[in-house]
Amino acid sequence: MDRLVALVGADMARVNAMILSRTGSDVAMIPEVAKHLINSGGKRLRPMLTLVAAQMFGYRGEGHIKLAAAVEFMHTATLLHDDVVDESDLRRGKATARKVWGNQASVLVGDFLLGQAFKMMVEVGSLDALDILSSAATVIAEGEVLQLAAAKSMTTTEDKYLTVIGAKTAALFSAAAEVGPTIAGLPHMRAPLAQFGTDLGLAFQLVDDALDYSGHEAMLGKRIGDDFREGKVTLPVILAFARGTPGERAFWQRAIEGGEAGEGDLEIAADLIRRYQAIEETIARARSYASSARAALASCPVGEHRLALEEVIDFTVERAF
Ligand code: IPE
Ligand code: IPE
Ligand code: MG
Ligand code: MG
Repeated sequence: MDRLVALVGADMARVNAMILSRTGSDVAMIPEVAKHLINSGGKRLRPMLTLVAAQMFGYRGEGHIKLAAAVEFMHTATLLHDDVVDESDLRRGKATARKVWGNQASVLVGDFLLGQAFKMMVEVGSLDALDILSSAATVIAEGEVLQLAAAKSMTTTEDKYLTVIGAKTAALFSAAAEVGPTIAGLPHMRAPLAQFGTDLGLAFQLVDDALDYSGHEAMLGKRIGDDFREGKVTLPVILAFARGTPGERAFWQRAIEGGEAGEGDLEIAADLIRRYQAIEETIARARSYASSARAALASCPVGEHRLALEEVIDFTVERAF
C-alpha cells in the first residue's frame, strides 16, 4: 500500500496526533487503556480511506483530519468491546486491554472513545457526515448483536452470515469512504464510494474469517481459532459443515452448539476446513467482492488516488495480517 501511504502520510501524521490528544482525560486509566491499544499499531486502513477519498475529490478544508480520527476511534472502541464479547486475549500482538485491565475497563474506555468520536464529528460541522457515521455506529452494534444471537447455531445460513459481516465490518468501511465526497461537496459520488467501501469491507471480513483458521499468530497479532472457541459460525465453517459427512456434521454440532470444544478440536476443525477447501472458497468469495469494489470506482477520476484505492483492494484479499 505504498502509494496510499505516500498520498496520505502527511495527513495521517496529523490524524495520529489528533487521536493521541483526544485520548486525554483526568481519569488516568482512560489514556492508559486507550494508548495501550492505539500505540500497538493497527493498519489504520479505515482513516486512510477517509483521507484518500477526501483528497481524490479535491477537498481543501481541515475536516477530513477529524473525521478520519473519529473513524479510527469508532474502530478502536469496537475492538475494545469486541475483545470482551469474543473473550480474546491477543490483539495487535499484545495482551488485550481486557486481559490487562479487565472487561469492565475495556467496555467503559470504549464508550469514552465513542463519545470522543462523536464530539469530533460535531466539531467538523457536516450534518451529512455525522449522519453517515452515526448510522454506521448503530449498524455495527446491530451486527455484533445479530452475530451473538446467531452464535453456537449450525443452522446459521450464508445469508445470515453475510448480513452480520455487512453490518459489523462493511458498514464502517463504507461510511469511512463515503464521508470523503460528502465533505468535498460532491453528493453524486457518495453512492459509488459507499458501495466501494461495502464491497471492500465484505472482502476484508471474509479474509479475516479465513485467517482465523489459516493465518499465523505472529503475523496476525491475534490468536488463531478465536472464532471456533467462541462458536462463531463463519463462512469456512458453514462450507465445511455443508460438505461434511454425517459424522463430521455431528462433530461441528457438538463443538459449536454444545460449547464443548476441547483443545484437540480446533485442529480437527481446521483439518475439515482444509479437506473441503473452505478457505480457498472463502477467499474466492472475497475476490468476487473485491472485483465489485473495483467496479464501484469506475466513475472516480483516473489517477493516483484511484490507483491507491485499487491497491487497497488487492492488499485486502492478499493480506496475511
Ligand atoms: C480488525 O480490523 C477487525 C475486523 C474487522 C476484522 P483490522 O484488521 O483493520 O484491525 P487493525 O486496526 O489493523 O488492528
Ligand atoms: C470484527 O469481527 C469485529 C468488528 C468489526 C466489530 P472479529 O471478531 O472477527 O474481529 P477480530 O478477529 O476480533 O479482529
Ligand atoms: Mg473478535
Ligand atoms: Mg476475526
